[in-house]
Amino acid sequence: MELKDKVIVITGAARGLGAAMARRFASQGASLALVDLDASSMQSIASECGELAANVKTYGANVAEEQDVVDLFNTIRSDFGALDGLVNNAGITRDALLVKFKDGELVSKMSLENWQAVMNVNLTGVFLCGREAAQHMVELGSKGVIVNISSISRAGNMGQTNYSATKAGVHAMAVTWAKELARYGIRAAAVAPGFINTEMVAGMKPEAREKLTAGIPVRRMGEPDEIASAVEFIFANDYISGRIIEVDGALRL
Ligand code: NAI
Repeated sequence: MELKDKVIVITGAARGLGAAMARRFASQGASLALVDLDASSMQSIASECGELAANVKTYGANVAEEQDVVDLFNTIRSDFGALDGLVNNAGITRDALLVKFKDGELVSKMSLENWQAVMNVNLTGVFLCGREAAQHMVELGSKGVIVNISSISRAGNMGQTNYSATKAGVHAMAVTWAKELARYGIRAAAVAPGFINTEMVAGMKPEAREKLTAGIPVRRMGEPDEIASAVEFIFANDYISGRIIEVDGALRL
């Protein structure tokens, strides 16, 4: 798919990887529907994209709320009159060990609240946005593309029972959608980033950063634009569907 003048929805676009995708897609001439919890948090990325001459609109919505998501996609369709792509990028972490013991005594357990919070955003949010996008794409006759942002943690990672389960889930959903939606000319795929140098990581102490990067075979974190570039590649290559691209500097767990 050529990105020029295509209408692409990016969730979690206020910062980090979502903002990097918005920048890259804007530079290719795409029209962007940027989504985050609070529309005002996207002012700065929206004006950056606007300077690249992209047609940009921002939408406040909670991807975990069914009515929010149904309304969101109806509004985007009526604002742009088209829907060509969705990047399911919004995601959260609530890390904790499954059970933690000290001197034979239980200290803590991963709470059901933290399990559910991650399920709601990372799994239900991706399901709802994927479902609504697919419906509109089929109705509009759009040969669209859906990309789910997974993680290398999908293989299972210490302290991330909840997160790893959701990231395996969004990979499986991309494969399922690729199979179900191929008959409409719609593709679906996923990207699994490793450690990426986002705002969150930038705030880490130098020692902590060093420890983190020492474990990465290529000895550095990825840059947000390197993930955006992998997403762009999936959009550009019409024969990629049902697969995951790992962008992790050989860190794969
Ligand atoms: P981030 O925390 O910097 O940005 C996520 C954005 O999603 C935030 O702007 C947040 O407000 C928004 N968001 C959270 N819950 C939402 C909801 N319910 N509805 C709408 N928007 C919501 O995260 P980052 O680092 O940019 O990560 C983006 C995606 O990439 C996530 O799915 C994350 O799991 C994944 N990922 C990130 C990696 C990294 O190293 N940064 C590594 C592997 C995967």
